[in-house]
Amino acid sequence: MRRPACPVPRRAALAAAIATLAALAGFAFAAGPQAPPRAVDEVEVLHFWTSGGEAAALAKLKATLRAEGHNWKDFTVADGGGGLAMMMLNSRVVSGNPPTAAQIKGAAIQEWARNDRLASIDEVARADQWNTLLPATVSDTMKYHGRYIAAPLNVHRVNWLWINPAALKKANAKPPATWDEFFAVADAMKKAGLVPVAHSGQSWLDMGAFESVAIGVGGVEFYKRAFLRLEPSALVSPEMEKTLATYKRLKSYTANTGAGHDWVAATAMLTSGQAGMLMMGDWAKAEMRAAGKRPGVDVLCVPMPDTAGAFTFDIDALAMFQVNGRDKQAQQDLARAVMDKDFQQEFNLAKGSIPVRLDVKLDKFDDCAKRSGADFKSSARRGTLLPSLAHGMAQPSHTVARMWDVISQFWAQDKMSAREAMARLAEAARADAR
Ligand code: BGC
Repeated sequence: MRRPACPVPRRAALAAAIATLAALAGFAFAAGPQAPPRAVDEVEVLHFWTSGGEAAALAKLKATLRAEGHNWKDFTVADGGGGLAMMMLNSRVVSGNPPTAAQIKGAAIQEWARNDRLASIDEVARADQWNTLLPATVSDTMKYHGRYIAAPLNVHRVNWLWINPAALKKANAKPPATWDEFFAVADAMKKAGLVPVAHSGQSWLDMGAFESVAIGVGGVEFYKRAFLRLEPSALVSPEMEKTLATYKRLKSYTANTGAGHDWVAATAMLTSGQAGMLMMGDWAKAEMRAAGKRPGVDVLCVPMPDTAGAFTFDIDALAMFQVNGRDKQAQQDLARAVMDKDFQQEFNLAKGSIPVRLDVKLDKFDDCAKRSGADFKSSARRGTLLPSLAHGMAQPSHTVARMWDVISQFWAQDKMSAREAMARLAEAARADAR
């Protein structure tokens, strides 16, 4: 039987998760980070939104809270994808000094709630009728035993391919819809002297690209079997072998940029025209805009090859921690502000995502967001709305970290065969069952 995931009480599991995340982050970590205790009136929010675009989006929330008289304090952990941030959060909670709220997602929200670490915001949610404003896919992950313990900010789509139109023109090509077309475009870009694919050396992005390849190569049902149900017969299968081969084939189209090359740098390679394509979720749009590029016009967006009917989602949320009742008012105000209709519009315009509230119109949003909104709804109807494994929406954090690790090593090590990678993926999934 599968053991429930557990971030805090089981010290061994925690130590293992911390060690994995530390290794992934290339981080030497001996004792917990010593954050000084908060002043009484401080609302401390732990998050990993540190890029220019992310910080600009968050500034809107800070302004609201400050206007309501709260003293916002950031506990920022610079690390896209949030692996290191989750490690810091664990450490803060274990040392008895949790933040007022933290940016956590999907399965991790449930893990913290199961361990009785989160504070209820159900009163606000009920008064403001969140149940009628949110799609069930979103509200389900924000509740524990029917009570809201987290406030959702947005819906990011992960399975996007971004294309520089000038590079496309130089290669005399059209946006690819299938993997065959993708490799033909990539070859043409290479011939035209461009780097076909901008790639970042971060493990969460390796996994993000990999999960999209899995949907394109193996199909939606295969993705569900392998990554939602962790079926051994899908994790070790001809479809997975083909997925790994297609994924590895991408490597020869990337520049050798090294591990320090983060997602912001990879996005800049695309916007500057040095690279032709980028596989990444739509948080990249915030950086594109910061570089003066209009998403949908100066940078094209198409679904990752052969995934047009599917939508992999990544929902950012703020979960409230139990802080001895001290911050209750601030937590309620924070929850209310996050779900405010105007805030949802402004935040998501800046962040690159779409609002979680169904009643926010997308008139002011760019064409990529409009397509995202339409595809979110249609894929929900068709059963092809998929929680992103890479972004912690599908499995407990330690399972995700182990799988990130396998895929990153497979990408980095030319000696690792697809068979070995499959066996290690299956092992990573099995480790939870012990
Ligand atoms: C988060 C986004 C964030 C991105 C890069 C994703 O996991 O959901 O909000 O912008 O990582 O840090």
